[in-house]
Formats: sequence, C-alpha cells, structure tokens
Amino acid sequence: MTDDKKICLVTGASSGIGFAIAKVLHADNHKVIATARRKKRLSQLKLDPGDIIAGDLNSPDFQDSIEKYIFNKYKKCDFLFNCAGMIEAGTIEEINIDKMTSMMKINVESTFRLTYKFLKRFMKQGFGHIINISSVLGTKIRPTAGAYAATKYAIEALSEALRMELTGTNIKISCIEPGLVMTELHKDWKIHPKESMGIHEPLNVEDIVNTVKFIMNQPDRIRIPRLMILPRDHNV
Ligand SMILES: NC(=O)c1ccc[n+]([C@@H]2O[C@H](COP(=O)([O-])OP(=O)(O)OC[C@H]3O[C@@H](n4cnc5c(N)ncnc54)[C@H](OP(=O)(O)O)[C@@H]3O)[C@@H](O)[C@H]2O)c1
Repeated sequence: MTDDKKICLVTGASSGIGFAIAKVLHADNHKVIATARRKKRLSQLKLDPGDIIAGDLNSPDFQDSIEKYIFNKYKKCDFLFNCAGMIEAGTIEEINIDKMTSMMKINVESTFRLTYKFLKRFMKQGFGHIINISSVLGTKIRPTAGAYAATKYAIEALSEALRMELTGTNIKISCIEPGLVMTELHKDWKIHPKESMGIHEPLNVEDIVNTVKFIMNQPDRIRIPRLMILPRDHNV
C-alpha cells in the first residue's frame, strides 16, 4: 500500500469482510468512512465518530448523505469498497422469496446505485478505485443458489462493462471472488456450507484483506478486473 493517506468508504463495515477491511485500512493510517445499519458494531472500529455513518444502504437519501459527507469533509474519495450484501439460498420448496428479493435489492440495486454515484465523482476528480466483493458464484452456478449467483453475475457484468468504459483513465474497478469465508453471512443456515461442502478450512477475513492489499499495491498502469480466491477443499 502506498504511504499517502487514502480516503476509503467501506460498506458492510459492521461485520465480516467489510469490518476486517475497514479495521486494517484504519490501522494502516488511511481515512476510513464506515457504513452499515448496526451503529454499535461500527463503533467497534474506533474511527472518528463522524466517519461512522449508520443506515440502510437501500435508501437513496441515505446514500446521498454519505456522498455529501465525504465530499464536503474530505473533498475526494480514493476507494469505494462494496462489501454490503446478504445471501438467501435454498430449494424451490424452502427458499424465502421475500428474503430473496431483499438480497437482489442490496446486492444489486443498491450497490449499482452507490457505484454510479461514486463513479460520477471519480470522473470529476480524475481518479478512484472501486473494489467489489463479488463471489466465486459470480463465475459459477450451484443448485439452490441461482438467485445469489445472479446477484454476483450482475456485479461482474457491470464491473466488466465499466472497466471497458474506463479504459485509459485513472479510474479502476476490481472484483474479488472469494469462496467460502468464515463470517456472519451464513449464520442463519441450518447446515453451514463448511459442512455441506466439506470445506475443512474455509477462508478467513484476513485472506480477503491480503487480497485487497495486493490489489491496492499495484502500480497505476495495472488493472485487476477480477481475482478469485478459494479454500483448498473447494471442488465445485
Ligand atoms: N462469507 C462468504 O463466504 C462470502 C463469499 C463470497 C462473497 N461474499 C460476499 O462478501 C460480502 C460481505 O459478506 P460477509 O461474508 O462479510 O457477510 P456479513 O458478515 O454478513 O456482512 C454483511 C454486511 O452487509 C451489511 N448489510 C447487509 N444489508 C445491508 C443494508 N441493507 N444496508 C447496509 N448494510 C447492509 C451488514 O451490516 P448491517 O447488518 O449492520 O447492516 C454487514 O456489515 C457480501 O457481498 C457477500 O455476498 C461472502
């Protein structure tokens, strides 16, 4: 990571991958603005209180307020980490359709909105990097997880189109495609995918942070549109 302090917005920063990214960026002396709904969890990051912005990313007004805060206070943004997301999967009999459509909203609609909002700013300032936490399921499909995979395929499709649109500029877009990571994502599942998929050593959030650092450390001439990271036992 370069020495100069970067302004970084991290969504989904109250737990799992987003929390870990926010924590390490803050420890590395970058300015982190952290958002998610659970304020108490965000406060555990020990950021400047103003940089904790709690709310529902599905609200366009809330997204506006984050954008205003960052550009009024810091006048720029270097990185947007799109980590907010959820998963709903299951058989035709079991899948919860309401949860499934909520997933489409946060994983796709709200992430697309925030991405375009910040890209417009990045175009004006002439630089910026969006790092999306996509998934291995942005490249593969699994029975019961079609809707989740569709949300990640959507992120991948948008990111690839944007990469082409941004060719030759100083604006970058990357997708990290993790396999199973131990976070709260599957906390409501009756059987954790670790068991059902026979993954003895899932990834941990530090593995994803290392991947983020690898991407951030690349020179300006390099683009990393996608980077897949899998646990050893991943066999599908
Ligand atoms: N864990 C894995 O195995 C894995 C693998 C591949 C990809 N991913 C992806 O990685 C990303 C992060 O997931 P994770 O594993 O870190 O799960 P997690 O621990 O459950 O974190 C999800 C985060 O999203 C936030 N969020 C959800 N809905 C939101 C909303 N409406 N408004 C604002 N924030 C919202 C949650 O915060 P609040 O509840 O406080 O709002 C939380 O901070 C997701 O996109 C997931 O699909 C995860």
